[in-house]
Amino acid sequence: MRISAYLFTCLLTGALLSGCDLDVSPTGEVEEGSGGGGGGGGGTTTVSFALDILPIFESDCIRCHGGAGGLNVDSYEGLIAGGNSGQVVIPGNGAGSLLPRRLDGTLPPTMPLDGPALTAAEVDRIRTWIDEGAQDN
Ligand code: HEC
Repeated sequence: MRISAYLFTCLLTGALLSGCDLDVSPTGEVEEGSGGGGGGGGGTTTVSFALDILPIFESDCIRCHGGAGGLNVDSYEGLIAGGNSGQVVIPGNGAGSLLPRRLDGTLPPTMPLDGPALTAAEVDRIRTWIDEGAQDN
């Protein structure tokens, strides 16, 4: 009983104070997508088009940008081909690309036209993907 009481106290205080040699540090956590600021280059990427970007387009954009004219974001090729304004992605230049500016409020009307804006994390992920070369990864 003494041991379990000790463990119980330990778990409580451990969670709060990192005592009792319990490993409660969050260090192993890998940040996904939020890695601000255009690092990368040299072939190293942290954002995948297929895994991180395309799903956003599929749930929020292709109902209007799915191939009926203008910008078509249902594929990498369509996105790179651009829309009525021409190129919307300038590989390596997230800040200068039209696409994220239509998402973060800096170039209205903000997309999606019919619904709530993407989260800041989602827009960051798209910008980072462009900074990393806008690869078909
Ligand atoms: C309700 C319909 C609708 C939705 C949803 C929508 N858009 Fe649009 N979008 C439009 C219309 C209409 C235009 C203006 C016509 C055009 O340029 O294709 C436009 C324009 C754009 C442009 C500028 C294209 C150009 O060449 O000027 C971008 C970039 C864009 N949308 C991205 C997105 C993204 C990314 C999403 C999803 C987060 C999205 N849109 C969701 C309707 C929509």
